[in-house]
Amino acid sequence: MADDGPSLTASSSEAHDRDRSHAWYKPGEKLELSPYTLDIFQNYTQIPADQVAAHIIRVREKAWEVYPYPCIGNFRFLDFAIIESPIFTTALSKLKSGGKYLDLGCCFAQDLRALVYAGIPSENLYGADLQSGFIDLSYELFKDGDSLKSTFFKGDIFDFSTFTPIRGNTSDQTLFQKIKGDIDIISARSFLHLFGPEQEFKAACQIVEILKDKPGSIMVGRQVGSFTPGIESISLAGREVFRHDPQTWKEFWNRVGEATNTKWDVQAKLLELSPDVKDSLKAVELSNIETRGWLEFVITRL
Ligand SMILES: C[S@@+](CC[C@H](N)C(=O)[O-])C[C@H]1O[C@@H](n2cnc3c(N)ncnc32)[C@H](O)[C@@H]1O
Repeated sequence: MADDGPSLTASSSEAHDRDRSHAWYKPGEKLELSPYTLDIFQNYTQIPADQVAAHIIRVREKAWEVYPYPCIGNFRFLDFAIIESPIFTTALSKLKSGGKYLDLGCCFAQDLRALVYAGIPSENLYGADLQSGFIDLSYELFKDGDSLKSTFFKGDIFDFSTFTPIRGNTSDQTLFQKIKGDIDIISARSFLHLFGPEQEFKAACQIVEILKDKPGSIMVGRQVGSFTPGIESISLAGREVFRHDPQTWKEFWNRVGEATNTKWDVQAKLLELSPDVKDSLKAVELSNIETRGWLEFVITRL
């Protein structure tokens, strides 16, 4: 596991190189597959066990060319976090009874596939990403172009008018406007931390608009956090972001609540980075390595 801190948004992506000597680019031969990853690729994607790693590595190379996010370089997209999430059981029951889920900044939309593999009707599940290339590659990774009935939008979280369905139900160009405000669960993994404080706040307010306007709607995810919360300058990205701990994250959501006239229960915990992740961050000379952590959260509308 490594940090997604240096990740950028569309405007600056061209400036970011695809150098495979980046500390967060793990060579294919170092890929280790968890039992669940092997299981889903064998039984959902229908790839023989001895071909799974080669398939993943091949698609990962293409994704790295779309944009070299750390989660692509270090194979963290194989981490199907939803199945270990405290809301997994709740998610299954909400989504089995017709609730809707949106994977925001979905990239490979691995959690969406894990939900389908767990028996959720895929038409209730949506993905959205700024980069259509990632959405296309998600179908290549999971080989489910003929079976998946989910709809994927290409869109920029800061401008709902950009949300266009590009896979799934593409016949209704106004689909996003119809489901906006009707989503029960949003997954926002390694997403809000991409943005500087002002944009992070705007993006969170947009998330509130996408979620169902009812108690019980949920945003779940995790992102880079800090045991000493505050502004951090990311030299690779040439900008500043705010690294939260559970307390500042609660305060952030109180402000989002005030701005959107909503109230949120924020459950969050900060997990230590493992020593090998810290070493990889030292190699790219990121600041505040010792105090970084993973902020995991479930935010529920009251
Ligand atoms: C660090 S990746 C995380 C991917 C995925 N959520 C995961 O955890 O594996 C961030 C994703 O957000 C997308 N993204 C970045 N800026 C965005 C924006 N303004 N609107 C929508 N998606 C955006 C990127 O294209 C990328 O797929």
